[in-house]
Amino acid sequence: MGTYTLIKGNEISAEIYPDIKKRVLNLKAKGITPGLGVILVGDDPASKACVKMKERKCKELGIESVTVKLPMNVTEEYLLQKVDEFNKSTLVHGFLIQLPLPEHINENHIIDAIDPKKDVDCFHPENVGRLFVGNPIFLPATPAGVQQLLVRSNIKTTGKHVVIVGRSNIVGKPMAAIMMQKGIGADSTVTVTHSKTKNLSDITRQADILIVAVGKAHTITADMVKEGATVIDVGINRVSDNDLAYPGCSRLVGDVDFDNVKDKTSAISPVPGGVGPMTICMLMRNTVIAAEHALRNQI
Ligand code: GUN
Repeated sequence: MGTYTLIKGNEISAEIYPDIKKRVLNLKAKGITPGLGVILVGDDPASKACVKMKERKCKELGIESVTVKLPMNVTEEYLLQKVDEFNKSTLVHGFLIQLPLPEHINENHIIDAIDPKKDVDCFHPENVGRLFVGNPIFLPATPAGVQQLLVRSNIKTTGKHVVIVGRSNIVGKPMAAIMMQKGIGADSTVTVTHSKTKNLSDITRQADILIVAVGKAHTITADMVKEGATVIDVGINRVSDNDLAYPGCSRLVGDVDFDNVKDKTSAISPVPGGVGPMTICMLMRNTVIAAEHALRNQI
């Protein structure tokens, strides 16, 4: 083929932000400034960078952001106390706990403690259940961002075979739940593959739309992709570039061997600049949705 569309998350998220900004202004006119809380445990550079980006975007949109930074050795009990404070806060309408958490903390205990009405990540079992039955309050940010990339790039999903590589709670599983629903940008036939899948490339080669979220560079090579497929790369991996012009430097790559795969596709999302900007955009949208719910409950 050789001619492919580059699916640019920066451009597509820019189409969505005006609506979010308008909704923030509407809320402010009614006396509510939407507030996003973030709990960051430890000092993992990737998590810190992620939280910084969220704070910056909130500021741009007029959303209040409140970040609670806790040390790596924080107890589960203390973390639950902070979750409870956000649950009760009238200034924070939605909040999240940046993952991953240290090993001594049980992630499920923390997620279970979030008020589902403030769960802008859509990780609480009640919200996961709502997503599965097709009655969600929030959509999980990264899968919702992928769906928006498809819809706004005019990629048809109805009856298409969507193959998802990766079964995480953050991407793979909710991505499947979204694409199998009835409706626009969904109605797909979905296959979920993972690290124990046999003959992975036989399955990925059947994909009309291949969504990859495993967190390992070069997982998808050109021989694993059908001619004319759409490829969405959710991976963010930092690789060192010792062999390039800047020894010792590193750069971000996805899970897809982009340079070799791109010419086989009809459309492909790059890393960076593909799914990443959409995730943050969908998180901002969820924060506004949470604040709109709070306003409705107040009246
Ligand atoms: N870590 C990586 N992705 C995510 C996400 O979507 N939400 C949270 N809370 N942590 C993450």
